Amino acid sequence: MSAQPNPGLADQNKSAWDHLYASTPDLIWGREPIGFLPRLLPAACDLPPGPVLDAATGEGRNLSVLLGLGRPVTACDASAAALAKIPAGVRRQVTPLVCDLACVPLPAASFALILLSDALETLPEPELILAELRRLLVPGGCLLANVPATDDGVAGVDMQPGPEGGWLYQGSYYYRFFTAAEAEALFLATGLEIVRNDDCVWDEPPHPNFRDASHRHHGRVVLARRPR
Ligand SMILES: C[S@@+](CC[C@H](N)C(=O)[O-])C[C@H]1O[C@@H](n2cnc3c(N)ncnc32)[C@H](O)[C@@H]1O
Repeated sequence: MSAQPNPGLADQNKSAWDHLYASTPDLIWGREPIGFLPRLLPAACDLPPGPVLDAATGEGRNLSVLLGLGRPVTACDASAAALAKIPAGVRRQVTPLVCDLACVPLPAASFALILLSDALETLPEPELILAELRRLLVPGGCLLANVPATDDGVAGVDMQPGPEGGWLYQGSYYYRFFTAAEAEALFLATGLEIVRNDDCVWDEPPHPNFRDASHRHHGRVVLARRPR
């Protein structure tokens, strides 16, 4: 797996997402949390003190669940258009932050828990992003992230082979799918300990302006800890 920066591809990808969010007042990802979260978030509750980061929050479909932990929550994304669509009642309870996950403008050891939901597979440089998220975790803090499998229901659908070993969906959005071994290696290479590594399946409805059909996701959901 390449860890070389590829700013052109990453910038093109961020721009595609920003245009998507701005293209409709509808919530692309809906209001329901991602399918694995209610089941696996409790596993992340043995946490040190500290706030929570929803990394690449999109329109914030997971924020209500995160706020349920009773900790301050920061919601960041590269897309200002996405953050503007977080429903107002939720947005006023979180700290929104427009930033690139490759370089988050916050001090090291800022968060006890980071959620990376449905985002790792969209990042052309996942190793760089995971290293940055590790920097942001307090010792003992956890990262909860899903890593779509090579037989995920959307893998290859309306996609052409793209750069960095990935695919381009509709010619614009970068995607990559991982074997179980590749998923585990990503976290271990970043210096994180794997606490849990679950095989998960969940269904998603269509996404306005993005994907017309309901679909099933399959992949690993990894709970990884920064060593104490
Ligand atoms: C598939 S969406 C998932 C959104 C949200 N986590 C969810 O589960 O609904 C992927 C998100 O990653 C964001 N993104 C892509 N590249 C990024 C980057 N380099 N830094 C920050 N956010 C990025 C996009 O703007 C988009 O909101």
